[in-house]
Amino acid sequence: MSDSHVFSRGAVHLHKMDRGEGIYLYTKDGTRYIDGSSGPICVNIGHGVKEVTEAVHKQMKQVSYVHSSHFITESVLDCAEKIAGLAPEGLGHVFFCSGGSEATESAAKMARQYYLLKGESTRSKIIARWQSYHGNTLGALSMSGNIARRRRYVPMLLDFPHIPPAYCYRCWFGKTCDTCDLECAKALDTQIKATGPEYVSAFIAEPVVGATLGTVPAAPGYFQLIREICDTHDVLFIADEVMTGLGRTGKNWGLDHWDTEPDIIATAKGLAGGYLPLGAAIASDKVYEGFGEPFAHGHTYGSHPVACAAGAATLDYVIKHGLIERSAVNGEYFHKKLSDLNDHPSVGDIRGMGVFAGIEFVENKETKKPFPSDLRFNRRVVDHCFNNGLLVYPGSGTVDGVNGDHIQVAPPLVIERSEIDEVVALLDKSIGEVEKELGVK
Ligand SMILES: Cc1ncc(COP(=O)(O)O)c(C=O)c1O
Repeated sequence: MSDSHVFSRGAVHLHKMDRGEGIYLYTKDGTRYIDGSSGPICVNIGHGVKEVTEAVHKQMKQVSYVHSSHFITESVLDCAEKIAGLAPEGLGHVFFCSGGSEATESAAKMARQYYLLKGESTRSKIIARWQSYHGNTLGALSMSGNIARRRRYVPMLLDFPHIPPAYCYRCWFGKTCDTCDLECAKALDTQIKATGPEYVSAFIAEPVVGATLGTVPAAPGYFQLIREICDTHDVLFIADEVMTGLGRTGKNWGLDHWDTEPDIIATAKGLAGGYLPLGAAIASDKVYEGFGEPFAHGHTYGSHPVACAAGAATLDYVIKHGLIERSAVNGEYFHKKLSDLNDHPSVGDIRGMGVFAGIEFVENKETKKPFPSDLRFNRRVVDHCFNNGLLVYPGSGTVDGVNGDHIQVAPPLVIERSEIDEVVALLDKSIGEVEKELGVK
């Protein structure tokens, strides 16, 4: 049982953290950890940035809360303007909420109301992909294709169709890079026709699949084809950039790597750098102009003045310190260093873009056979990393929702090259220790 009154989501005994600075976290007893995953990939600007805490303090002293149906503050206007400044041309209408699940659900409801106002009232279904994650509230979980996170709640979920993921290391169509004909993208066309285009409002996808697959980018050409298919059937395309947005992949948005523009972007996590809860659904001109009436949706803490002050200050910091470009440049170095880990017998695949990586573990490199799930290989890696002073983000069910192990490695974008060397050295040591423990050769 828990040793406190907190109904926690994770370990029964939680470590008491004292303070954070840059890429480092320190517990009460003075132990130092490298935050190698920026929390769950949200503390993109690093810990202890005083510009953000000062902006929050200033806004709190002015006014902490006003209801967004009547009032707006400078901080909300400022944050929206900064987001629009980073968004593609034609995507500049920012609906604020408090996190990733709210952002994807807001986008889904925005798509529904858009079609209602167009007089296409049967369009309500969102098509998503297996092995994806769009959030844990029931609407967002209905879109999510993360089998482990869905399993207990399936009877409560909406009936949304899912298509195969874009997962080149384990192609669901048995193809290789040489024989690939983007079957996984074409599956969207088949699914829209099977569902009936008149019932489909949107398709949602993560440009680089985060927690569920462990940082898996889609194949070149994938999102261009997705865009084409959506346009053919007049279906909106929602990019879930909750994890990939605002520089994590080395460009403003993950989708920029495919030169593709969505109709709605859902973003959160790095938007306020983990300093306060903040998310947003960013609508294109087309979607926004389709609204001749207010969006019939909102939350008490939507457009929160203080959260938006944190968001604006975070984005200022990102721009001032060139963190997006830095993610691209240091990302190349990071991936080059990480590739040395391929010498480990348990490392099956290393992937990602920018300072955003995933490592998938296998029992057999040739056959890609995963470790038995009861070995909890990813957990062992995380525990050894933890004992060696490095925090990484674990994932399981990589292969099929049940089997397979991966970790995500995504330190704050402010990381220096010498610190990247340290992260990779600690990974090398920790993976080696797990292999020794299990006799993996
Ligand atoms: C791609 C993606 N979408 C949505 C979410 C849900 O965000 P939140 O946990 O802030 O509700 C997450 C969280 O990990 C995510 O990675």
